[in-house]
Amino acid sequence: MATIFITGSTDGLGRAAAQSLADQGHRVLLHARSAGRTGAIGELASRSAGIVVGDLARAADVRSIADQVNAIGRMDAIIHNAGVYTRPGRGATPGGHAETLAINTLAPYMLTALIERPGRLVYLSSGLHRGGEGSLDDLDWKKRAWDSAKAYAESKLHVVALAFTLARRWPKVLSNAVDPGWVRTKMGGAAAPVDLDTGQRTQAWLAVSEDPAALVSGRYWHHLAQQQPASEAADPEFQDELIEKLGRLTGVELPQV
Ligand SMILES: NC(=O)c1ccc[n+]([C@@H]2O[C@H](COP(=O)([O-])OP(=O)(O)OC[C@H]3O[C@@H](n4cnc5c(N)ncnc54)[C@H](OP(=O)(O)O)[C@@H]3O)[C@@H](O)[C@H]2O)c1
Repeated sequence: MATIFITGSTDGLGRAAAQSLADQGHRVLLHARSAGRTGAIGELASRSAGIVVGDLARAADVRSIADQVNAIGRMDAIIHNAGVYTRPGRGATPGGHAETLAINTLAPYMLTALIERPGRLVYLSSGLHRGGEGSLDDLDWKKRAWDSAKAYAESKLHVVALAFTLARRWPKVLSNAVDPGWVRTKMGGAAAPVDLDTGQRTQAWLAVSEDPAALVSGRYWHHLAQQQPASEAADPEFQDELIEKLGRLTGVELPQV
């Protein structure tokens, strides 16, 4: 039985992965953006290891989430699932960052650095990450006109690069990225072709399976098969520049080894 922390587990793929892992007998530590949203978890709450609360757009909340997780103990696996899609504008978090960057990139980066190192890390990316090239010049959308689709694509490229950085720097941790496909969730919409169960399967499998195929690191997955991500994601120079910039934007350093 493993203990798995899943961000954004009030809805969609995060909730579905939590449900599936709990049904397999694992302990899931859930996450809601606010105390008010914990109600959405329903009966799963009583079968969980707890619910941590915090808004990923707020750096102070992200630090608090890390503290809440660390107080419970070391996780066997963490699925960095929470995310937002196309926002109408750049927005500004309390720290002044673009909301998409803060929720989709800065929060998983900070949680990775601040939570006790787990055995496995899984990051939810998207096939759309392939449109995210060239993002490092204006990571926080301060110079460019807002482009919500491009901001989303960039954020999903960042998490593949983050997953691959950790695979390189932290050899004892299995770190992978997943494209769940276009899934019928609040984000994906009713017309999406992929059902929730298929959409959650790869990340749940990577989090706990002892199948040798799942015991790998630095790979990009789609529906239980490895795929080639954008070349930038696997480029150590891009990775190092990204991590250095994320460290400066958040004031949180990612341990080198
Ligand atoms: N669905 C797709 O077609 C698709 C395709 C490719 C990749 N993905 C990726 O898969 C992941 C999950 O997507 P989904 O379709 O399950 O999305 P979803 O149905 O919109 O659920 C997103 C989850 O993240 C939480 N969340 C969003 N912003 C948050 C914040 N500021 N603080 C705390 N929690 C926050 C949401 O909380 P609330 O319930 O309170 O809103 C919800 O629990 C995302 O990273 C997404 O980019 C999805």
